[in-house]
Amino acid sequence: YLKILSMFILGYLLGSLNSSLLVGKVYGVDVRKHGSGNAGATNTLRTLGKKAAVFVILGDALKGVLACLIGSLLVGNNGLMVAGIGSIVGHNWPLYFKFKGGKGVLTSFAVALMMDWKVALILFAIFAIVVAISKYISLGSIIGAALFPVAAYIHKSDDKLYLVIAVIFAFLIILRHRSNIKRIVQGTESKFGKKKTA
Ligand code: G3P
Repeated sequence: YLKILSMFILGYLLGSLNSSLLVGKVYGVDVRKHGSGNAGATNTLRTLGKKAAVFVILGDALKGVLACLIGSLLVGNNGLMVAGIGSIVGHNWPLYFKFKGGKGVLTSFAVALMMDWKVALILFAIFAIVVAISKYISLGSIIGAALFPVAAYIHKSDDKLYLVIAVIFAFLIILRHRSNIKRIVQGTESKFGKKKTA
């Protein structure tokens, strides 16, 4: 258990390196004070533009991959999953940034890729289709996350641990999108490509 706990902490410390806040430091801007107020790639794109968003996408995905790789090397498959979850929790509630982070979509995707790339790519396709149709990145994230347990059940019904992890991922992502859900219902959610904030 000590090993597993230390993998969670390691993931958490890595995940706390929230890329949007680090890249924001370079620009002298705290993205949490702009747009949706979220410390993530979407709000970086909205606030600082494409170039900054690319760095955030790479950073937030890579830290998830790195956490999984270290977890897997040191403890094996369970280590991979626990370090991965730690990195998502760190991204959302970062130690170095007053615990105010992002929604964990990209980092979850990276970890999901490391756990089972086929399921992750299916979820990404669903995300992309929903975003293309609705123009809401948040809605794509919510629906993609909600379908993770479904995809896990269909694809790996015998792997109970994987299923539990998929439910945790979905729960965390939806939990972090409460304000987006409210805005979508009210029709005030900002659409992809527009600078307007909600
Ligand atoms: O990645 C988070 C995305 O789904 C929503 O971000 O800034 O529109 O709340 P935001």
